[in-house]
Amino acid sequence: MGERSSASRPTSSLRWAVLVVGGGLAIQLAGCGRTSPSALDPHGPGADRVARLWWLLFWISAVVFAVVTVLVLVALLRRRGDRDMLVRRGGGEALIVVGGVIVPAIVLTAVYVVGLRDLRALTVPEGTDLTVEVTGHDWWWEVRYPDQGIISANEIHVPVGRPVKLILTSQDVIHSFWVPQLTVKTDLIPGHTNTTWIQASSPGTYRGQCAEYCGLQHAKMAILVVAEPADAYASWLAAERRPAVAVGDPMAARGRLALERNSCAACHTVSGTAATGTIGPDLTHFGGRRTIGAGALANTRGNLGGWIVNSQTVKPGNKMPPQPLTPEELQALLAYLESLK
Ligand code: CUA
Repeated sequence: MGERSSASRPTSSLRWAVLVVGGGLAIQLAGCGRTSPSALDPHGPGADRVARLWWLLFWISAVVFAVVTVLVLVALLRRRGDRDMLVRRGGGEALIVVGGVIVPAIVLTAVYVVGLRDLRALTVPEGTDLTVEVTGHDWWWEVRYPDQGIISANEIHVPVGRPVKLILTSQDVIHSFWVPQLTVKTDLIPGHTNTTWIQASSPGTYRGQCAEYCGLQHAKMAILVVAEPADAYASWLAAERRPAVAVGDPMAARGRLALERNSCAACHTVSGTAATGTIGPDLTHFGGRRTIGAGALANTRGNLGGWIVNSQTVKPGNKMPPQPLTPEELQALLAYLESLK
């Protein structure tokens, strides 16, 4: 009986080893799906460095993993039932000192030095003359262009190929700015400013996400970086600088009145109107934005109607209460908000 169980032990250990290794590989591969923006698909010099560091760490880990797996398999296959004989054989100290202390010390020191070098390289480049201030709120991003006098939300427009300095802070709790394809994570801390920078090497819309748990709607705190060629960026700037357009359409004009007379105006600003609230996002050019509620919904008329009537069903806990508007007021308001390009 005793003999049989000792003989079956290596086989069952081997089975466990295969299960663990196979499971680990399956998890790795499952994580490779390209359903969300990945730091391994860099579109800017900052993210390039991060991706290169990631691959370096990956290959070092892969080699260490392979060596350790081989050693474990060798140990399992060469194992005998007689434990005393194993102890008597001896000679393992050198392997433990070299493989367990010296090699890890060299590898970890090298990785640390490379990491420090990359961290230094990620400081804002000299001569960066574009600045954007980003303030975190529960759960949206206030975006200001101090030199251009622009206030927006949840979307940062940048010219392709130029570095943009970001000054980050928070109004309430700690958030973290992370656009994986462009840059590293940087925290937004109340009462403190952090600085980082982004640069996009090709035009596109890059999705970012709050990367520090900040409460109920942390997951629905997305930000978009829209990188455009210089002329498209210049015309966006020119449009954003203007106050909200005077309304010609009578429906939209009624919508403007509805916005000014209802509680909307207490929380939102539309420059050039009586709406001057600062609790929620500035809506002066809301019609040109791609999403509603910091990426919670695409900015379509239907989504916007649902959001205004009761955004709590979409993003529970956000600060906007349900709006008791008449159907006519709602339609007018939608027409007005859509006109705010
Ligand atoms: Cu903001 Cu998480």
